Amino acid sequence: MVLESAVMAFPIDRPRRLRRTDALRSFVRETRLSPEGFVYPLFVCPGKGVRKEVRSMPGVFNLSVDEAVKECAEVKSLGIPSVILFGLPESKDEVATGAWADSGIVQQAARAIKREVPGLLLMGDVCLCEYMSHGHCGIVTGQEADMSKEVAEFIRDLEAQGKRTVAIPQPKPGGATSATAVATASMVAAMAAENYEILNDPTLELLAKTAVSQARAGMDIIAPSDMMDGRVGAIRTALDDAGFQNTPILSYAAKFASGFYGPFREAADSAPHFGDRRSYQMDPANLREAMREIELDLEEGADMIMVKPAMPYLDVLHEARLRFDVPLAAYQVSGEYAMIKAAALNGWIDYERVMMESLLCIQRAGASVVLTYFAKEAARLLA
Ligand code: PBG
Repeated sequence: MVLESAVMAFPIDRPRRLRRTDALRSFVRETRLSPEGFVYPLFVCPGKGVRKEVRSMPGVFNLSVDEAVKECAEVKSLGIPSVILFGLPESKDEVATGAWADSGIVQQAARAIKREVPGLLLMGDVCLCEYMSHGHCGIVTGQEADMSKEVAEFIRDLEAQGKRTVAIPQPKPGGATSATAVATASMVAAMAAENYEILNDPTLELLAKTAVSQARAGMDIIAPSDMMDGRVGAIRTALDDAGFQNTPILSYAAKFASGFYGPFREAADSAPHFGDRRSYQMDPANLREAMREIELDLEEGADMIMVKPAMPYLDVLHEARLRFDVPLAAYQVSGEYAMIKAAALNGWIDYERVMMESLLCIQRAGASVVLTYFAKEAARLLA
């Protein structure tokens, strides 16, 4: 075999020969870290002249539209090709009006950035959690959170149009009869919190509306991050029907229910008020299921796929790179950023070195596109 004849033993073979000098090391380097696939996340909020630092993400800000425009000009001048927009709406409700309204905060920002910073690729994160009063990524109903008037009206509307609205019942951990066990107060509370449903199919309607309104506002790429079943197909159809056949979809295809999103939820004010996201985001233990999620999204029409988070999931990223021949993105999420920042601020690590190594390794594992809060700092070092 080629491999056998190529590998000789010491002292003939000395791998250190190619590591002797900077020139040699750079000559044989397999992965070259490049900002050409960087995407910089922005959190847009109402107001004017607002630049509010996120407590758990030093260097990351909530920006009003005017400030976001300035930020984008800087991003572009650093050679970063793209930004992804998240929104902090003026108000929230149970049908995520702020997500799909043409006057929504993200839509306003997209229009202004398109006008002032042409040429920057604008990516819209399509999700509802930032715009829902309860912080979940879909429509919530259940015995505890009785169906609100807004939701009831919306469901009635869908039914009148002959659309599917039936919830798929979700199993309750421990089973409904586990009350016979000795239950602590916190267990009872946890069980009560399971007493709700995230409605899949009605949520698709809102996601599709959100995607269309984002495309209308000038988004170049639509990136659904909600993890509802069937969202890519629903969004593709809606975009096509609205005349946006050429707007690509980057699907957060393998998005795990991760503790690493903590700081983001502070930045975007999107933490769920009860329960968690485990009935829609993926179990961190499952690589095979991630491959299936990706496959399904591609079948539904995704043009690009994403694995998220990045560093704890490099095996998932690598497997996706081997299996699928579409552009592959990774999201180095808020918790990954916060950990490196915090250790650096304590003087425990060499900040620049660790930041660059983390990005290089994500690219080595297979991501050609990297969403990262380090984009600006890394691009400066690479210039
Ligand atoms: C919206 C969304 C989240 C992130 C990106 N889009 C939060 C979540 O799913 O809870 C996380 C990004 C990050 O942590 O940097 N659903």
